[in-house]
Amino acid sequence: MVKNVKKIAFANIPLNSENNIPLYQQLYDGLREAILSGSLKAKTRLPSTRTLAKELNVSRNTVMNAFEQLLMEGYLVGKIGSGTYVAQTLPDELLHTGVIKTKEQKQKNFGLSKRGEFLASIPVSLAQRYRTSLTNTTPFQNGLPAYDAFPFERWSKMLAKCWKHLPRKAFGYGSSAGYKPLREAIANHLATTRAVKCSAEQVIIVSGSQQALDLASRLLLDPQDIVWVEDPCYMGARSALQAAGAKVVPIPVDNEGINVAYGEVKSSAKLVYVTPSHQFPLGMAMSLQRRVALLEWASHNNAWILEDDYDSDFRYIGRPIASLQGLDSEGRVIYIGTFSKVLSPTLRLGYVVVPLNLVDAFSSARALSDRHSPQVEQMVLTDFIAEGYFSQHIRRMRALYSERQEALIEAVKEHLLGFLSVYPSETGMHTIGWLPDKSNDLAISETLMNNQIIAYPLSMYTIEAKLPPSLLLGYSGFSPEDIYLAVKKMARVLEYTK
Ligand SMILES: Cc1ncc(COP(=O)(O)O)c(C=O)c1O
Repeated sequence: MVKNVKKIAFANIPLNSENNIPLYQQLYDGLREAILSGSLKAKTRLPSTRTLAKELNVSRNTVMNAFEQLLMEGYLVGKIGSGTYVAQTLPDELLHTGVIKTKEQKQKNFGLSKRGEFLASIPVSLAQRYRTSLTNTTPFQNGLPAYDAFPFERWSKMLAKCWKHLPRKAFGYGSSAGYKPLREAIANHLATTRAVKCSAEQVIIVSGSQQALDLASRLLLDPQDIVWVEDPCYMGARSALQAAGAKVVPIPVDNEGINVAYGEVKSSAKLVYVTPSHQFPLGMAMSLQRRVALLEWASHNNAWILEDDYDSDFRYIGRPIASLQGLDSEGRVIYIGTFSKVLSPTLRLGYVVVPLNLVDAFSSARALSDRHSPQVEQMVLTDFIAEGYFSQHIRRMRALYSERQEALIEAVKEHLLGFLSVYPSETGMHTIGWLPDKSNDLAISETLMNNQIIAYPLSMYTIEAKLPPSLLLGYSGFSPEDIYLAVKKMARVLEYTK
């Protein structure tokens, strides 16, 4: 039976490792199409992930990722590891209503360009990929600031005041590089807190890091250019690079950060994306030796470094680690920061610090995509920083998140000791919960998600790396009570008793 299946469907799935589309995505597309076209019939048992990985000469992670997505979307049923079948009732009604279409139909009906098809197939985050019906404010969604501690009253007063006294010139179009006083305030803040060396002119306001990643990828890379990314990697960055046509080469990380020596042997590259202050998602800081090695590598190879400094304000022990940008004497580092973590993602405000000779290019490309960020929010943020509320908020959140991390560790000790290992993390808004060896983090995450708990599996962020099974546990966005209840529920759902 299984042999037959392979003949019908799998042999025909063209997997091309040279292609920019990730292999799991190609496999997902192929299997989905085989199911929709009927060449894989309802109730057909699929080979195990191990067998299929061997057959297709891809990693098991690739197959698991593809299966996982098909399971989530209802094309497959069962459990990875104990039998996966084509669903008896496919999302068929959707087929008839035309919501789901085969690739051919998509091309015919929507007329997307090849680039359009490609862009539409790249998810920016796991939340988008899972199309989860859970709100992303459900524990343990990672990277969420504390909603309950946002200074709503202060912010709304400042916003109202700003609108009331809005100068006429702020009512029209603004500068694509951003509101000048805000750029100045950010340059000062970065100089004192992150040792970033820049003038206000080098700071360009963007709508969150994602836009900075997108602009940098499109401005600095040509299709087929090779880029290094950390493995595991932040999906938003990897997707932006792939969307620009880059060939993403995964470079392993160890407890000092990205392994530069390994990368040098593996492949050349025109750019590298790194999270030096707090590796996403594992959490280590890049050592000084590695920082120096990376800068030297970039210098010898005429390469760019994208430094994503997304949550380094939340350092619980000692002072925040200085930026990589501050060590760069050749203007190779593009430094990206965001207000999504320190204030709120809904503001859609971030910044990118670029070398002086790139300022015009970034401003023009920004203007081309959406002209500029809303002026009023930029003005309010400027006052918020100038009047000292921003630093105060960071200090308060640092204390609050430290407490929340502790609450998570304590709750895990009480309810999941022996099953989940969570260690104190010096920085950030999430930590890793390590599962027992050989457990299936994808299946566990799915079970949790079916029970309204979001804990994404680490394996969804890896490309080639083989890491022990584990889950990402965000704590910053949830009260200690919510954390406690969610951990308790986790133990119940997973039927774990100490
Ligand atoms: C590594 C990393 N960079 C950046 C961001 C922030 O993205 P944005 O500024 O687009 O909201 C996140 C959010 O989760 C992140 O995890």
